[in-house]
Amino acid sequence: MVDIRTRYLGLDMRSPIIVSASGLTRSADVIADCAAAGAGAVVIKSIFEEQIEAEIAQAEDAHFTGRQLPDAYEFIRRHAHHQAIQKYLETIREARAAVDIPVIASIHCVSAGAWTHFAKQAQDAGASAIELNVFIPPMDPRRTGAEIERTYFDIAREVRHAVTIPIAMKIGPYFSGLSNFAMRLSKSVDGLVLFNRFFRLDFDIERMTMVPASMISNPSESESALRWISILSGRVHGDLAASTGFHDGRSVVKALLAGASTVQVCSALYESGVGHLTGMISDLQNWMIQHGFASINDFRGRMRQASSGDPMAFERVQFMKIQVGIE
Ligand SMILES: Cc1cc2nc3c(=O)[nH]c(=O)nc-3n(C[C@H](O)[C@H](O)[C@H](O)COP(=O)(O)O)c2cc1C
Repeated sequence: MVDIRTRYLGLDMRSPIIVSASGLTRSADVIADCAAAGAGAVVIKSIFEEQIEAEIAQAEDAHFTGRQLPDAYEFIRRHAHHQAIQKYLETIREARAAVDIPVIASIHCVSAGAWTHFAKQAQDAGASAIELNVFIPPMDPRRTGAEIERTYFDIAREVRHAVTIPIAMKIGPYFSGLSNFAMRLSKSVDGLVLFNRFFRLDFDIERMTMVPASMISNPSESESALRWISILSGRVHGDLAASTGFHDGRSVVKALLAGASTVQVCSALYESGVGHLTGMISDLQNWMIQHGFASINDFRGRMRQASSGDPMAFERVQFMKIQVGIE
């Protein structure tokens, strides 16, 4: 039998497939289903920075206004269930008791505020690592790209001060200098998750209103993470996890060839059920057998671009071949 064990963020994992933060990981019983189907780790559904800060302000009997996104704070103040912090910590404890795979806590954040102390509480509750889903939409015309980037570093630094467990940061692809940014950011955390999938809006042309677009990805979306992991692998510090659009065992193979340590999966499990993980794992194992690989390290990173010169020149030549029609 081939060996599909891997290491991610310094954690030993029995398989490279992680169930991403989502409703599939909201409670210990569904997390147990993920483990039973073969997940190497799970990322618990995120708690939002605004939820944590709202509770801190409530406990201190302070008025909180929301520095970055006042509307988001107002929404939480009106609609949030109380004790989100305690409930989240309880989910970590219950998940740790229910499964023997790493359980990663996840925090959705946009600033480095008082909420960062929560990371220590998550660690004390038994989280194996912290994943920070940082989503700072560049909509505010007064904020420069440099200011937005600085916030990612501020968040990483504050959480690093708070905990000793590993930290991963889940980011999007929209940075003007992604290679440089990812390289610098990778020194502040233990791993990068490439990429998160931003909330999208669609138009309802009958009602003429904005509506949420589908939360479910399609397999072609994996091309973005594949491309960037193959560019960054071997160049950045720490581990890379592939995310968005990984729906089957073949795409997992591609991510590992690009240099990913792990692959996060969500939409495919919403579509086909958590049991789909088992098929993804056996497809990975069958591919390894067919190609004579005994372990993941035998082929991981074989298609990274660090070993093949200048990625920009490589891509430009491929693009020219197609556009100019030269074979
Ligand atoms: C219903 C649903 C809930 C999600 N909740 C979270 C969340 O709490 N935190 C987070 O970081 N990502 C969340 N995500 C995003 C997923 O973790 C993942 O990054 C995204 O779906 C792309 O991966 P996929 O193509 O495998 O679906 C959610 C996705 C879905 C579909």
